[in-house]
Amino acid sequence: MEVLNERHWKKGGIVNAKNSQSIIFFLMVFALTACGQSIASEKREAIYPVVQKSDEQSESSPNEAVTEKPETKEQETDVSTKTLVVYFSCTGTTELIAEYVTEILGADIYEIIPENPYTEADLAYYTNGRADQEQNDPDVRPAISGNVENIDEYDTIILGYPIWHGQAPRIISTFLESYDFSGKTIIPFCTSHSSGVGSSASNLHSLCSESVKWADGKRFENGTSKESIADWIEESL
Ligand SMILES: Cc1cc2nc3c(=O)[nH]c(=O)nc-3n(C[C@H](O)[C@H](O)[C@H](O)COP(=O)(O)O)c2cc1C
Repeated sequence: MEVLNERHWKKGGIVNAKNSQSIIFFLMVFALTACGQSIASEKREAIYPVVQKSDEQSESSPNEAVTEKPETKEQETDVSTKTLVVYFSCTGTTELIAEYVTEILGADIYEIIPENPYTEADLAYYTNGRADQEQNDPDVRPAISGNVENIDEYDTIILGYPIWHGQAPRIISTFLESYDFSGKTIIPFCTSHSSGVGSSASNLHSLCSESVKWADGKRFENGTSKESIADWIEESL
């Protein structure tokens, strides 16, 4: 039937008087119905304007919800947190992870470079060399060459360091005491042969003001894949 009617309409082509009356009647009914719906819709808006605008799931104004949400997201992006990846690395393990993080986030990166670079002999542990001695004294603050001039621009610092005798190298303490991180978030990570992050991160936390938000520290082994780092970032941010 539906197919036949359709064909008939198309074949006819000419609109006779009877058909005209039908069409006028049909148009009037359509106009009244549309008008009625419009008034009803206006009434609903008058009664529930706030609910409709704030309800993203609203079926009565889906377009409104869709357009408002991206605007909010854009605003959030405008004031979105800026991340700086800071790392110290003597043999490249921590550096590689820091570079992965930087690439994944599109963040800025800063390497903590000692004013007096560590030689191989300095790093030979259990020899009572320079690194061993520094780690034995919690008050040592090896000097850093250069500084981050625009630290205020960053809301989140992802801080990477190697584990030296269960702790962060003392130069990380130098870094943390060189700036005011109030209100910022610091996300620490470390690399090591086998030790976990242990108390290294919480000891660093104690050097900062209370308003600094610290995330749990995470330890990565040499050769950790970029995918694993991406997973960690997704969990942490
Ligand atoms: C002085 C010193 C002490 C270290 N102490 C530890 C330790 O306590 N536990 C551990 O698993 N690895 C220890 N390591 C190994 C480093 O944590 C590991 O090689 C780290 O990934 C090196 O990072 P980097 O290549 O970024 O410098 C130590 C290395 C040095 C130089």
